[in-house]
Parts: sequence; C-alpha cells; structure tokens
Amino acid sequence: MCGIVGYVGEKPALDVVLEGLRRLEYRGYDSAGVAVVADGSIVSEKRAGKLTNLEKALAERASANDPLGTATTGIGHTRWATHGPPNDVNAHPHLSADGSVAVIHNGIIENFATLRAELTDAGVELRSDTDTEVVAHLLAGAYGMHHDLAEAMRAVCRRLEGAFTLLAVQRDHPEMVVGARRSSPLVVGTGDGEYFLGSDVAAFIAHTRDAIELGQDQVVTITRDGVTITDFNGAPAEGKRYHVDWDAAAAEKGGYPNFMLKEIADQPQAVADTLLGRMDARGNLALDELRMNEDELRAIDKIVIVACGTAYYAGLVAKYVLEHYTRIPCEVELASEFRYRDPILTHRTLVVAISQSGETMDTLMAVRHAGEQGSRVLAICNTNGSTIPRESDAVLYTHAGPEIAVASTKGFLAQVTACYLLGLYLGKLRGDFFADEVRAIMAQLGEAPAAIQQVLDDTSQVEALARELADNRVILFLGRHVGFPVALEGALKLKELAYIHAEGFAAGELKHGPIALVEEGLPVLCVVPPRGRDQLHDKMISGIQEIRARGARTICLAEEGDETIVPYADVLLTLPKVPVLLQPLVATVPLQLFACELATLMGHDVDQPRNLAKSVTVE
Ligand code: AGP
Repeated sequence: MCGIVGYVGEKPALDVVLEGLRRLEYRGYDSAGVAVVADGSIVSEKRAGKLTNLEKALAERASANDPLGTATTGIGHTRWATHGPPNDVNAHPHLSADGSVAVIHNGIIENFATLRAELTDAGVELRSDTDTEVVAHLLAGAYGMHHDLAEAMRAVCRRLEGAFTLLAVQRDHPEMVVGARRSSPLVVGTGDGEYFLGSDVAAFIAHTRDAIELGQDQVVTITRDGVTITDFNGAPAEGKRYHVDWDAAAAEKGGYPNFMLKEIADQPQAVADTLLGRMDARGNLALDELRMNEDELRAIDKIVIVACGTAYYAGLVAKYVLEHYTRIPCEVELASEFRYRDPILTHRTLVVAISQSGETMDTLMAVRHAGEQGSRVLAICNTNGSTIPRESDAVLYTHAGPEIAVASTKGFLAQVTACYLLGLYLGKLRGDFFADEVRAIMAQLGEAPAAIQQVLDDTSQVEALARELADNRVILFLGRHVGFPVALEGALKLKELAYIHAEGFAAGELKHGPIALVEEGLPVLCVVPPRGRDQLHDKMISGIQEIRARGARTICLAEEGDETIVPYADVLLTLPKVPVLLQPLVATVPLQLFACELATLMGHDVDQPRNLAKSVTVE
C-alpha cells in the first residue's frame, strides 16, 4: 500500500505534500518522490530509501527561485514496491516522455504488460520497470487528444485493468490535480480555498477534517475553486462526505486502535491483491521474476520449504496444497534447523523460502545453503527487493502491503494464497491440470476475499469469547489436515500477544500423550474440517468427544450449516463454506482476532509485543 498526497491551494505545495508523506510513513515504504507544477513545467524529485533521502536531494537543489519551493500545486508518493525493485528510477512520480504529465499510483495495473508492449511498439522509451510509468505515457497521449486532464484520465482509466489510485498533474494547469480510483482508496480533503487528495485522511488531517470518500471507478478534479467528481464515462458522481473525528495517531491506523486490527481488516484486500493479475484469459498463471526455465521446473522431484514462525506454518499449509496439486513430495523445514541437519538436496530439489520481511537471517542462511548444494530457490516474499528474493532464483511476491504489527496476520494469509498459486502453476506446468481446472480453482480463490470479509463483518462472538477466557493461562488448539497448521498459528498468535502458554496439536495426536493435559474447564479451540472430507470431519468429532469426556470446554470453528458439530461445541464459531484446502484463509481470522482481543483486555501492546522484533535478522 503506497502513500499518496495531492494539494492545490495557496500554501507552498512542497511543504504540504512532504508533511502528508511524513504522516503516511508508518505504512512502510522503500522510496519517495514529489512533483509540482509551476511556470508551465513540472518539477520533480524522487529517491529510493526513506523520506530523508528525498529531503536531502530537495535541499541540495533548493534555490531562491526554484519552483519546487514556490509552487502551490503538487503531488507526492511513498512507494511500497510491487513491480520493479526500489530504486530512484522506479520511485514515483513517473513523467511522460515530454515531461508534460506526472503520475503517482497505488495498486497494480493488471494489463500493464500489454500496455507496455503497445507503447514500445509506438516507439516510446520506457525508463522504469513499473506499471505506473505506462500510465504517464498514456495520459500524455490522451491529453494531446482531449486537451482536458480529467477527460484524459477518464479515457486512460477505461483502458486499465486491476486496482489503482492515480493522481496526475499537467504542466499547463498549475492549479489542478486529477485523481482516479478503482478498488484502492482515495479521499478528498476540503479546506478553505485549498483542496487535498490522499490515500487516507492521515495525509491531510493537519489541515482539514472535512473529507469526501470517492466511490468505485470515479475521477476527481481539485482546483482552488473546488471539487468535481465524475464516473469513468464523465457522468457527474458523488463521493461520501464525512467529518474525520479521529486524532492524527488514529488516522494513521485508518481509524483502528492498533495496526494489528487494521492489518487483520486488510486481509481481504491482501488476498485479492496477491491473486490480482496472476492468471491470463487462457488460464495460464504468471508469477513474478521467474528466473528458472520450465524444463527445470518440470524436472523437480522434491520440494523443500524453509521458513520460520508464522511463515513456517504457511509452509505447513503449502505441503498439503503442493502435494495435492503437483504430486511432488514436499518437506517443510524450520529454517533454523535446516542447514544443520545436512539435508539431502540435489539440482532437482526446489527449495521454497517463505518470508514476509525477506530479511530473516535463519531463512536467508537456509537459502544460501540450498544454493551451495546446487538446488534452485524460489522465494515467496512480501517485501520487494529484500535480501531473500534478491538471492533466490525465482520470486513470487505477495502483495499484502507493508505489515507493521510484529505479529504477522495479512502476511500469513497472503503467503498461503501464494502457495495455492505456486501449486496451481507447477501442477499445470507438469500436466496435472487443464486450463479449465485452473480457472475453476482460481475462481474459488477469487471468492476467498469475500469469505474473509464475512468473518470480519461479525466479530462479536470472538470478542465475547476473549472476555470469557481472559483469565485462562493455558489454552489448546486442535486441527486436522490444513486445519492443523491453523491451530499452530492460532496458538502462536496467543503466545506472541497475550503471553499465554498456548499450544496447537494435530487432533489425531491427542491420544498419544497431550490428552493428559486435559482437565475440567480447559479451553480447547477446535478447527473442524469442512464436511467435504467426511472421514476427516468425523475423526475430528471423535477427538472433540474424547476431550469433552475429560472436561474440556470446546470452542469449535466449523462451516456454516454444519449441524453435526452442534452437540459437541460449548461455543460454536461459524465459518463461511469454502473448499477444504482453502479453509486456512477463513479459519485463521477468528483466531487472530481472539488473540488480539484477549491481549488487549490484558492491557498488552498488540503491535509491539514484549521480546519480539518484526524481522529477526540474527541467527
Ligand atoms: C509471526 O507473527 C512472528 N512475527 C514471526 O514468527 C515471523 O513470522 C517469523 O519471524 C518469520 O518472519 P518472516 O516471515 O519475515 O521471515
């Protein structure tokens, strides 16, 4: 998720825009840039790294009559890289070839490869690796036809596929910023003779609390005279006006009390964005930089997943998925153990390194060891340009956006989503799937964001459960099949956030020892498999009966309509119906909320739990 700011008014635009970007810094980013309009030209500066790098560059060029210091119309951007590594060239804004238009963008243009090819064929020289630059060139071309920036924006938006928030300025309109949005946030701030645009209200809350939220497929024009909103065809449209009651700190969390709840709520978008643009019309899957050829991938005879913590649990889900889709044996290894056990690796082993940060030293050392043994490495990572993807042979980026809270939530769901994509990709490459089968499974995956949102829409039961169990100091989690890694992840969240000794078990393993832990009133959260796999479902009920017979308090997570479980659940949390393999995408969410709510009741800092770091860069 990138930070976006636009301004038109009487103040120096650079000051307003930089201040807005500072308020959006919390989101995490890897480059930043600004552009202003003055004296018939666009003046822009952008740098990789933190805002201080940009501010240093601006200070070096500042001079009395530099338009950057005097212009009153401008845009600014903090980039979280998706397409193209974080460097000065890929930073936003992007300018058209003639410098007449500058664009900043948040989101993913799904059809940017086609548009890039069209521009290249037309002789346009593309300077960056980004999808955004394509928009700058198209916008300049459309402006040349319409001589109206808003109309040019509408014409270009009608050609774009994917999710995007765009802001643009044009050198002949020193008092205008035009924005557009589809499936990505854009808010207008209305002041007295000055107007703002932002990816969220934090960008301009210091200046005004009167906002207008734009709707889907809308274009907005701000000038000193006011705000004009239309749809992509030019018909007048309305945004949702509201007054921002949050304080600045809350605004930075999108109104949530902490980043963890914000990021839990971000999960439908994180899964949707990770899926976005991954499959073409013929059912072929497109991954990110894949520096391995198809013959190498077809020759794979073993997959070894290496990861830590929550990412390791995503790997455990991936084992079920990859073996089901590809029939390739798949091992899952704790990265910290992997290289010390002298693993058996060959050139036909594919090592998959899963890491949200891309900097976890245990995982990085495992990647290096695999490379030394001649195996190829594919990274599944949420941080573009980080060390692990850079040192891997292939990369599948998740697009969850920056994850600020130390305890991973949307990172996990995006990793699991990426593992489904990898399984489908390898399965189809190896002839285990036809295109229509891939399309059918992708369609089921495409319904996951709505299912996750359905869980998020009613959290009252989970909150009540947290209050009820707030005094418990031992809580167990059970699951079977892909529900087993979900149980482990749920237990980890409770450990990390509430500092409670929580433990996850494979339900079938209880009778081999752990059932000795069960005593009167012990809370046990049970992830019940969907009834699509009756044997699994029935075995889970048997396990639940065993612990109830010994006094356990059973909190069951089961799909809606599952009446069989009702007699065995002291508390029943219903889940949307999804295919068996996709259950982690919906079953994990209540467990995340439960841990967050319980820790909050205990007065803990859920964003920065004690003893933990967001990225463990030591072995
Ligand atoms: C998850 O909530 C923890 N913060 C931790 O287990 C984390 O998943 C682990 O350190 C791996 O981090 P990575 O995904 O950035 O490699």
